[in-house]
Amino acid sequence: TTLDIDPAAYETGDHASFMRKEMLEQPEAAQRVLRGRLDERFGTAHLGGLNLDARETRAIKRVKILGCGSAYYVGQMGAALIEELARIPADAEAASEFRYRNPIIEPDTLYVAVSQSGETIDTLLAVQEVRRKGGRVVGLVNVVGSAIARECDGGIYLHAGPEVAVASTKALTTMFLGFALLALQLGRVRDLSIADGRRLIAGLERLPAQIQEILDREDEIAELAGRLADAESLFFVGRVRGFPVAREGAQKFKEISYRHAEAYQTSELKHGPLALISPDVPTVAIVPADELADRNVGALHEIAARRGPLVVVTHDGVDLGEVAAARIVVPRNERELDPVLMTIPLQLLAYHAALRLGHDIDKPRNLAKSVTVE
Ligand code: G6P
Repeated sequence: TTLDIDPAAYETGDHASFMRKEMLEQPEAAQRVLRGRLDERFGTAHLGGLNLDARETRAIKRVKILGCGSAYYVGQMGAALIEELARIPADAEAASEFRYRNPIIEPDTLYVAVSQSGETIDTLLAVQEVRRKGGRVVGLVNVVGSAIARECDGGIYLHAGPEVAVASTKALTTMFLGFALLALQLGRVRDLSIADGRRLIAGLERLPAQIQEILDREDEIAELAGRLADAESLFFVGRVRGFPVAREGAQKFKEISYRHAEAYQTSELKHGPLALISPDVPTVAIVPADELADRNVGALHEIAARRGPLVVVTHDGVDLGEVAAARIVVPRNERELDPVLMTIPLQLLAYHAALRLGHDIDKPRNLAKSVTVE
C-alpha cells in the first residue's frame, strides 16, 4: 500500500516532478540534519535523542544496520563510516531478510534501523524482533512519530522534510549525514582524536555547498544520461566505499528508467561480468582519488578494451590515462564523506534517463513509496 500524502499540503511548485524538487532541496536538507548537532570545541556530534551514555557507548562491540531498498544501501555506507571513525565492526543487512534467519541478538551490539517513512513493515518487524530479544535499537528516521521511530530506544531524526517521489534523494543524503554524526559521536567517545573529529566537522560543513555545485551541473549530467538511456543493460561499479554508491546508483537507475542496471565490485568484474561488456553495455564507474584509484583505472582499461562505453564519476587529479570515458568530476571532501557526493550525479543520471524515456518519474510502475504490508 502507498501512504497517501495530501497533495494540497505539498506541491511540486515550478518543478517538473517531486523527484527533481527533492533533489534540488538537498543542500538545505543537509544543513537541517547537521544544525545544532556539531560541537567544534570537542570535535564531536551531539545526538541527545540516542539515549546512549558514554559508558554504554564504550561497551558496544558491534553495530548492525537494518533497512530496505535505498535505506539498506545507505546503511552499507553508514557501516563503513562507523568502522572507519569509531573502529567498531559494523555491517548492514536487508531488514526484509534479517528476522527470517533467526538472528543472534547480542547485548553488546547496537542495532540501527534506517527508514525514510518509518513505516516500512520489513524494517519495523526487524526492530520488533531485536527488541523482543532484548537488543537495543536506535533509529535514523525521517518521519517524526512514525511506527519505527516510536518502536526504537532512541534515535536521530533526519529533518529532510516530506519526500514524495518513490526514488529517494534528499532522505538518502540526510541518512548518510545521520550516519556520519553517529560515527563521529561514537568515535569521539572511543578512539577518534579531536583533530580527526574537527577535520570531519569541517568536511560536514562544506558538504551543502558542494552538493549545490554538483546540482548546478545538471545540464552536463543530463547530456550523459541521454547517452545511457538507450542501453538495455548497464553496470555500475565501485570498490570499498564506492561499492554501496554503485549499488544505490544501479537501484535508482532501474527504479525509474526500467533498464537492467547491475552493481558490481570493480575488482570482481574480471571474475565473471567482463564477459558481458560490449559496445551495447555501458558502465558507470565510481573512481575517487583514493588509494585504489590506480587499480580502478586498470579495470577501466579492461572495459575500454572491449569497447564498453564508460561514464566515470571521479575527482580532479585522477589520471584516466588512455581510457576514453565521459567524466563527471565531483568536488572532494574528506575521504570518509566523499561517497555522499558521488551519489548526487547518479540521481541526476537516473532522473534524466527516465525523463528522456518518458516515464512517470515520481510513481514508477510496480513500486510504492512505502511498503507497509509484507
Ligand atoms: C520502498 C521504496 C524504496 C525505499 C524503501 C525503504 O521499497 O520503493 O525506494 O528505499 O521502500 O523505504 P523507507 O521508508 O523505509 O526508507
